[in-house]
Amino acid sequence: MFEKLQKKWKVNGWQLLAILCTFAIGGSLTGIVGRKILQQLPELHPLGWTLLYIITMTLIWPLMVVLVSIPFGQFPFFKNYLLRIFQKMTNTPSSTPPSSIPPSSIPPSSIPPSSIPPFSLAIFASGTGSNAQKIIEHFRNHPSIRVALVVSNKATAGVLDKAVAAGIPTLLIEKERFFRGDGFVAELTNHGIDFIVLAGFLWKVPPSLIQAYPSRMINIHPALLPKYGGKGMYGNFVHEAVIAAGEKESGITIHYVDEQYDHGGTIFQATCPVFPEDTPEALANRIHELEHQHFPAVIESVILSKLVKNQSS
Ligand code: GAR
Repeated sequence: MFEKLQKKWKVNGWQLLAILCTFAIGGSLTGIVGRKILQQLPELHPLGWTLLYIITMTLIWPLMVVLVSIPFGQFPFFKNYLLRIFQKMTNTPSSTPPSSIPPSSIPPSSIPPSSIPPFSLAIFASGTGSNAQKIIEHFRNHPSIRVALVVSNKATAGVLDKAVAAGIPTLLIEKERFFRGDGFVAELTNHGIDFIVLAGFLWKVPPSLIQAYPSRMINIHPALLPKYGGKGMYGNFVHEAVIAAGEKESGITIHYVDEQYDHGGTIFQATCPVFPEDTPEALANRIHELEHQHFPAVIESVILSKLVKNQSS
């Protein structure tokens, strides 16, 4: 049960202990303070008293746990926890595109895809490929978009096994030809690739490939660009830098690819908290969750909006 909670809340053992103590002490204090308040009230009908008791406890409890969470160093967790309860009750989404990005640039994925011709996607990845897996699953039965190729620069990358298991062709690229040659454009064209998604791809993309896919290549970065981007900023290096800088918030950025690292126009961002006790691994898990939640849907929206534009022009 404790392991389940640790996974669910993305915390280590000590944090879990502090959180459980906060719940226990906050709960007891709620009872004591609540009873003290109710004792001040005149005699009431038992039904009225029960109702008042429930309302008083419901209002006092969040206040008590937040107060107790401060000495336990768990204020960010409880702030977020209570916010999530509030968001669930009021049905507000927990992450939003930044205000600088007009919502119209992320069209609803309810655009009828049936009238759209098939569209082929290549995923470039260097690592385990958990994002690639989510993208593959998302488009498995899609009427107009399919993952047609998985490209990697690393023969041992887990993403290649995932592609093979899903029956998707793979392409292993080699450094010299990628950077000094044609960026493997001919192979991509042969596979009929219309759009490229970088999902944890760690090589810089050469100009030849960018020019072959203008505004048709997007990347995901595990931080809120323009902060914590650039050469050497990938995976845990990003999370280490975010934690070392004492950031209270991190997140993901999905953006178009241009000739600089982590630089092209932003399409979408979503945020998550950074807790004082976070390890790079704990933050990475939280970021991965955000990526899996949003990346496939954003890819779909970007492609569908392009297809709809092409059709109407
Ligand atoms: C993802 O977190 C992605 O944002 C990051 O690599 C990870 C790949 O994970 N990309 C970068 O750091 C690019 N600068 P995955 O292999 O499990 O999908």
